[in-house]
Amino acid sequence: MPNLLDRRVVVVSGVGPGLGRAVCLRAARNGARVVLAARTQSRLDEVAAQVRDAGGEALAVPTDITDDAAVDNLVQAVNDEYGRVDVLVNNAFAVPSMKPLGRTDFEQITSSIDLTVLGTLRVIKAFTPGLAETAGSIVNINSMVIRHSEPRYGSYKIAKSALLAMSQSLATELGEQGIRINSVAPGYIWDDQLKWYFGQIAEKYGITADQVYEQTASKSDLKRLPEPEEIADAVMFLASDMARSVTGHTLDVNCGEYHD
Ligand SMILES: NC(=O)c1ccc[n+]([C@@H]2O[C@H](COP(=O)([O-])OP(=O)(O)OC[C@H]3O[C@@H](n4cnc5c(N)ncnc54)[C@H](OP(=O)(O)O)[C@@H]3O)[C@@H](O)[C@H]2O)c1
Repeated sequence: MPNLLDRRVVVVSGVGPGLGRAVCLRAARNGARVVLAARTQSRLDEVAAQVRDAGGEALAVPTDITDDAAVDNLVQAVNDEYGRVDVLVNNAFAVPSMKPLGRTDFEQITSSIDLTVLGTLRVIKAFTPGLAETAGSIVNINSMVIRHSEPRYGSYKIAKSALLAMSQSLATELGEQGIRINSVAPGYIWDDQLKWYFGQIAEKYGITADQVYEQTASKSDLKRLPEPEEIADAVMFLASDMARSVTGHTLDVNCGEYHD
């Protein structure tokens, strides 16, 4: 569906080598003009070059979403270049503590909330006037962690649960301006990072990486793990007019590992 986001200006905040990159490439493939924001200029340039190589249009704006001035600069850069914004995808991620909550520093939990919840809110607030003009759409990337309570995921779950609560409240608050806001909750994402991690587990337990994959995937209905492009397709759907009556919703993309 090459025209799903035809000429729409899609801002992706938190572009890294995993899902962020896949969302940018997928948006470009669907006809969007893509704005890439994260702190590392070299990675933004790399992904922007990949978007252009695929025939798309890209603007890279180095941005720290925990910084008011940096986010204001992002909005200004988008206005200067395109004069409009249609879609905002909030994807930023930092590796969580992965310790039991009783042994997790409060500072770690605070910084996770600061990035995931307040960082996302900062970007949403800054783009709200522009999104109101285009009756735009926001997609917040959440996680399967909101569906389980496994040990050591507590800090991550606190941040992502608060992100979900915020997304639902904002759906109500921004709805009358015509802005939709939805969440995508990926399960495992079968990308280079996870491939490396499964290699480490395989070495530790003296089994093959394929066996680690099979054991993990066996918990899902489809007996496989979703790939970055498959998560990105769910984002495209929610961002596009195909989901024009959908707001406040969470779309799980986990091959059926957990059901809502
Ligand atoms: N990977 C998984 O298995 C998985 C599973 C379920 C859900 N998710 C969710 O999917 C999303 C993407 O995860 P991913 O691992 O694929 O990430 P990614 O797209 O590879 O990278 C995310 C990027 O966020 C950027 N970021 C971090 N702090 C930032 C800040 N203060 N300001 C601006 N950008 C910032 C980082 O780039 P800079 O350091 O350059 O700023 C990082 O590279 C996350 O929301 C994550 O919670 C991931």
